[in-house]
Amino acid sequence: MINVAILGFGVVGSGIAEVLTQNKDLIKNKIGEEINIKYILDLRDFPDSPFADKVVHDFNIILNDEEVSIVAEAMGGLHPAVDFSEAALKKGKSVVTSNKEVVAEAGDMLLKTATENGVRYLFEASVGGGIPVLRPLGTCLAANKINSINGILNGTTNYILTQMIDFGKTFEVALKEAQQKGYAEANPTADVEGIDACRKICILAAIAFGKLINPSKVSTTGISKIRLEDVKNAANAGYAIKLIGQAKDIDSKMYVSVAPRLVAYNNLLAKVDDVFNGVLINGNAVDDVLFIGRGAGMMPTASAVVADIVDIAGRPEIKNQNWDKAEDNDLAPLSEKISAYYVCVSNTEEQAKAIFGDIKAISSCDGEFAFITNAMKKLQFEELASKATVISALEIL
Ligand code: HSE
Repeated sequence: MINVAILGFGVVGSGIAEVLTQNKDLIKNKIGEEINIKYILDLRDFPDSPFADKVVHDFNIILNDEEVSIVAEAMGGLHPAVDFSEAALKKGKSVVTSNKEVVAEAGDMLLKTATENGVRYLFEASVGGGIPVLRPLGTCLAANKINSINGILNGTTNYILTQMIDFGKTFEVALKEAQQKGYAEANPTADVEGIDACRKICILAAIAFGKLINPSKVSTTGISKIRLEDVKNAANAGYAIKLIGQAKDIDSKMYVSVAPRLVAYNNLLAKVDDVFNGVLINGNAVDDVLFIGRGAGMMPTASAVVADIVDIAGRPEIKNQNWDKAEDNDLAPLSEKISAYYVCVSNTEEQAKAIFGDIKAISSCDGEFAFITNAMKKLQFEELASKATVISALEIL
């Protein structure tokens, strides 16, 4: 029997307990051993829960119990989740997590700690919820030099943008609905300002390039300033606005950013709607590969956490990844990035043409003129934009 402790009995933690219980026999048949939930750590008691007798309030009970070989961290937040994870690894317990903040901030250290202690650290659920994407990127695509990753990595913002695009709802109404459906983080700022997507693209980039860039070094823009007018202008020109986490290899340096971008309708990512996430990976041998699935929610996230538990239980000998910290000279300068732009200005069409040159007009109404530029370096775009009265400007993917 393999004994597991779950840290945190919120949405994800209770999902893990439910999947392990519901699929107990099926999992046992796969790995030949039963997985038993021995403890659930939480500050609260859950007297009405079928797991009430498993709840403990002191992490040391778990740490000092040699029968516990796998810890599932579903606490959220950086501390004490990172400290508990490190302590468990040092005690020879494997750790699995859905906590993208911990992986993006300290994944390099935790992977090294796991390797030094002969155990495993896995975090499939930290990116893309229930989508199997991290393990395929690290193993099935291992033969490739990864050229680019473009991902819709946040279910809440994708839900909000879909509601704005398809039903003309305002940002505020759609956000409230996403919160009611349990997609949003406790503090929705992390979702709507792109912070959650940023953590996830840092994790994907680390698997692709072997270097973990700290989220604080990533240019990150969220969707809170997207207007219904921009959504409509984009649709008129054949694009959907999506929050895209992007990681690229530019001349052997890493380029990583998060921003709302216009995605052409003929790009497969444009059709990834609602709470679904999509990750489009381009490798130099395989070309494009697209992963799609539910990027948030209790059971999809628990599906990925439990799969990590099953993987460790069934294949404890597999090596951990090894990440280094990305240094400044590993990073491609943002100003060199080449893109075309969607722009909405309060200038006239003539003035816009005089400033931006050859442009493709989209619409002109209520004193606003919207258009698409030719591709140019970000630095050049910023110079031109400073000469106009820009209302909105978004990169085209
Ligand atoms: N708040 C996150 C999202 C949850 O909306 O994608 C899953 O990481």
